[in-house]
Order: sequence, then C-alpha cells, then structure tokens
Amino acid sequence: MISQLKYNPINPLPESGNITVQSPSNIALVKYWGKKPIQIPTNPSISFTLSKCHTKTTISFEKSDIFSFEFKIEGKENIAFIPKIDSFFKRIKDYCPYLSKYKINIDTKNTFPHSSGIASSASGFSAIALAIVELEQEITGFSENDKYLKASFLSRLGSGSASRSLYGPAAIWGLHEKVPNSNNEFAIEHSDLHQDFKSYQDTILLIDKGTKKVSSTAGHDLMNNHPFSKQRFFQAYENLESMIEILKNGDLEKFISLSESEALTLHAMMMTSNPYFLLMKEGTLSAIEKVWSFRKESDIPLSFTLDAGANLHLLYPKAYKQKVLDFIEGELIVYCEKEHYICDEVGSGAKILKANYA
Ligand code: DP6
Repeated sequence: MISQLKYNPINPLPESGNITVQSPSNIALVKYWGKKPIQIPTNPSISFTLSKCHTKTTISFEKSDIFSFEFKIEGKENIAFIPKIDSFFKRIKDYCPYLSKYKINIDTKNTFPHSSGIASSASGFSAIALAIVELEQEITGFSENDKYLKASFLSRLGSGSASRSLYGPAAIWGLHEKVPNSNNEFAIEHSDLHQDFKSYQDTILLIDKGTKKVSSTAGHDLMNNHPFSKQRFFQAYENLESMIEILKNGDLEKFISLSESEALTLHAMMMTSNPYFLLMKEGTLSAIEKVWSFRKESDIPLSFTLDAGANLHLLYPKAYKQKVLDFIEGELIVYCEKEHYICDEVGSGAKILKANYA
C-alpha cells in the first residue's frame, strides 16, 4: 500500500464534531469507460473540474461502540442512495479503522437540481471522502497533500470519476507511462493549462432530467466483453497524451476535434455493447447539429462533450460567453427540459468549509 494511505494515529479520537466540505462535479475530456475490480480503470482519463455544480456535505460524528451512518439530502432521509454509500463504507473501512468507533450523520445538498440528470456521484462521494479524511487529519496530523491524496483514493472506491473532483483546474486518473505520478488508485492534479483553458466555460443543456436507464456501473461492466474494448482502451491511452499537449499549448481546433470524438466514441461504445443501449435523445442530436452549424458560420470555437447521459456540455473560451449564451437562448433552449441550462466553468476542486471537534 502507498505509505500515505496508512493510518498512523498520534492524537486521541475526538469525542464528536462536525465537518463541512464542498466538492465539485467534473466533466471528462478523455473518458473513463470500463473498469476492473475494485474500481481500477481500464484506461486513464482527464477532466475539467467544475465550479458551480457542487455538493456541500456536513458529516456529524459521535463516538459509538459500533459504526453506523445516516444519510440525508437537505435534512430529509433518503434511502435510494443507502446501498451505494453502504458499500463505499465497507470498501474503505480497512483504510479508515477509526470510523468503526463512530456513528455518522451525513447531510448533503447539491447546487444543481437534484433530478437534473447531472451525475451527483462525483461531487457526492468526493465530498464525503474529504470530510472523512479531514477527521483523519485531526487524529494523524498528516499533511494537506496526503489528505487530498487519500481523499481521492477513498473517493475512487465510491465512484471512479469522483477521484478527479478533489483537484482543479483539471485532474488525471489512471496510469500512463508518460505522466509522472499517474496511477490507478487516485487522481492527480493537472494544472499545466494554457490561459484559455483556465477559465473555460461549460454550459450544460439539461436535455433530459430523468434518471438514466442504464447506470454507469452497468455500462462499465459491458466493456468487459465488448468487441471493440481493446481498441478503445488503447485509443483513450493515446488520446490522454494528446489532450495533455492540447491543454498546454491551447490549440482550440485540436481540442474541439479530440473532445467531440471522445464524447461520440463513449456513446458509440454504449451503442455497440451487448446488450446495446442509447443515452442520447433526439434533442441531444439536434443540438449537436446546431453547434456544428454555429461553429462553421461564426468561427467561434464552441464544442461539446457528453457524459453518460443525454445532457450536452458546451465548452468554450470565456471571451465568447455572451455570444454563446445568445446562441443558446435563440436556438438551443428548445431542446432543454423546461428551458433549463446551467452555466458553469473550470474550478479549483474540493475544499473544507468548516471543522469543529469536541
Ligand atoms: C462517462 O465514475 O460514474 O462520466 O465508478 O461506476 O461510479 P463508477 O462510474 P462513474 O463513471 C463515469 C463515466 C463517464 C466518464 C468519466 O467521467 O470519465
């Protein structure tokens, strides 16, 4: 095990306390799609960390003879997420032995609408993980660097993409021989970005706010016997290297073609799985066509990417914000459920807002 992940207590366990953290969502540019047990990615991925789409989580803890947890969303019990959180705690218990001495209450709130079709698992798990390691820091006194490293490691065990939410403005998760310190167990910060990308915009068109018919976990599993998986994992490995170069030198033309190709390849993998499935909706395709015509006519470097859903993420430099928003209002809003879209941008990662111990 990596030495920073070991538990080395030097202080007594606090009797009780509460910790509040904020952690963002992220949008992958080179996609993680396919994994091996336990939560090991079949290819490396890179994402922009978002800013406005985030989860705020408070963990209140109290000494207890046995471990238990309660989970609430905005103060209300929510049983739908319990099995995933329960399996998360089972996976992390050996790395966080102090948890067995506590009863924990988790209260969480997303800034994006709860049923917006935006994955809350990345921001949700990274927020819980960071709050837990904040408690660990109180007991072990480990460094800030180690705290984030372990938070990313634990997040990964909840949801793979969550490992990347700790760090901004971008993060890489998964081993790549050309990327120093890259590994499959936790993400690393990636900040070697051209000026344009440091304030890049992501406006998310909420084309379908419903729950996904096929979960990400099921989709990842289908990559195991996928006829094109080997080729796809190799391609993603190569794309990661190209994307790092593009982000560094600010070549927007190459950025557009690589990020759109990644998005469409992800969905092509879904469409060619056995069983096959489709997460894009008519509105997704119509909006993509409109983006392509707009780009051609205006010469504005607007591109799109997708995660495992129908919502379209529109990516563009901040300088074009007003022009892109006018285009969205005029031509794309018809594809958004209840005319709803979210304006987000590249952000700096998860942070602790408050920690009290007694
Ligand atoms: C398409 O991280 O949600 O968004 O590890 O099973 O929780 P689990 O999967 P998850 O998969 C994300 C897939 C993706 C691409 C990406 O974020 O890299």
